[in-house]
Amino acid sequence: MKLDELLENVSVVGAAGKMGSGIAVLIAQEVAKLKIKNPDKTYKVNLIDVNEQGMKGLRQYIKTQMTKVAEKSIVGLRSAYESREDLVENGEVIDAFVDEALGVLNFGTNFELAKNSKVVFEAIIENEELKVKVLKELKELCPEDALFFTNTSSIPIGFLDKEAGLQGRIIGYHFYNPPIVQKLLELISADDTNKEFKDIANELGKLLGKKLVPANDISGFIGNGHFIRDGLYAISEVNRLKEEYSFSGAIYIMNRISQDFLIRPMGIFQLIDYVGVDVFQCILRVMNKHLRDETLHSELIDKLMEKNIRGGQRADGSQKDGFLKYERNRPTGVYDTGKGEYVALERLKERLDSKIGNPPAGFSPWRKLLIEPNKADLLSTYFSNLRSADSFGTELARNYLARSKEIGERLVKDGVTNSADDVNAVLTNGFFWLYGPINDYI
Ligand SMILES: NC(=O)c1ccc[n+]([C@@H]2O[C@H](COP(=O)([O-])OP(=O)(O)OC[C@H]3O[C@@H](n4cnc5c(N)ncnc54)[C@H](O)[C@@H]3O)[C@@H](O)[C@H]2O)c1
Repeated sequence: MKLDELLENVSVVGAAGKMGSGIAVLIAQEVAKLKIKNPDKTYKVNLIDVNEQGMKGLRQYIKTQMTKVAEKSIVGLRSAYESREDLVENGEVIDAFVDEALGVLNFGTNFELAKNSKVVFEAIIENEELKVKVLKELKELCPEDALFFTNTSSIPIGFLDKEAGLQGRIIGYHFYNPPIVQKLLELISADDTNKEFKDIANELGKLLGKKLVPANDISGFIGNGHFIRDGLYAISEVNRLKEEYSFSGAIYIMNRISQDFLIRPMGIFQLIDYVGVDVFQCILRVMNKHLRDETLHSELIDKLMEKNIRGGQRADGSQKDGFLKYERNRPTGVYDTGKGEYVALERLKERLDSKIGNPPAGFSPWRKLLIEPNKADLLSTYFSNLRSADSFGTELARNYLARSKEIGERLVKDGVTNSADDVNAVLTNGFFWLYGPINDYI
């Protein structure tokens, strides 16, 4: 099994989606480099999606992204094209590379396009019946030794393998959003995943410049294993606090604690909105089905979905309302289930900030700390102050920090991962935290 040969014919299924389109750019870029090295060989990257409308904008999207990629890697491209005397200006090199990449692409809504693919990336929606159906169809069409990389973020790979009858020819290749930018790639093998395939998957991940973190084949893996339970904890706190502070007040409090007091890039409810309330519900259901010893469920999430409050983004990238209301992508209100409307954030601030209190001494917002060279020391001082501070807000923060650590440690204990470092690597790389959940801060 040689990676260069496997990349001669690749398909990306679900290519018009958020993840599929990014994966398409990453793969097209590597295949275009191979084409420069081997101009006489034929390479194909087949981009397939059932969404005709979505496919229409895909070529232009890929062209724009490939141009950005080429601009960033101009030095490497100049040396790859050193025999091309006709390419003088940087702009000419960039255009040649983008043309090279676009030249290997085939777009379509028909799975027949994947017929001769040696490698398939599956990035359709997170629905296990549909994934099984699509994988089965592809298995029938593709060569019998074709390899399947699935971008599922919660469905056990062994389950997909068994249900689709792939006999070890599938691996979990969990890119983070957006795949072009995000360095993290969680790699999940099932018990039967072929050893040589694992090596190939590692080799490809390195070629794509990703930080590879292995996870074991337990639903939710590391990323969602932490995120979903972290979200459920915040919801359980909301249920505890809502009697006294109202539902919207409790959401405001927990969102503020998780962002400011824990110095995370965004509050937990903003993060759930960003991921999508619908996606959160869907992953909850998958994990609840596959994890026998734990009940993972939220009536609140179900209630929001019944009211069609879904979060996620519009086609232009702007944030849709969810737990929070957004104007120009900034939170301006908080949903109140009782009233069925959004309460202005300013009103909640006025009412609750004095009750919550300030974060302890040493606090700096996430954005500021991110660029501090000595952030580890600053975090250590801040959390030491948090440990001894005595206010409503700091107590909530300590409890949250302890729960997050417990979730991280449980991922190790339950065998989702073999190492605390890997849990921390996923949260710091995939979620942009400044510190991992398994820490000495609590
Ligand atoms: N969005 C994220 O933040 C994120 C992060 C990591 C992993 N994932 C995982 O990536 C996968 C895709 O997620 P997404 O956010 O890109 O979803 P998306 O809804 O943006 O894209 C899914 C695409 O699949 C297509 N599709 C649906 N049914 C299909 C079928 N039968 N055949 C071909 N194409 C079909 C849709 O038309 C759509 O274009 C999911 O498994 C998800 O869990 C998502």
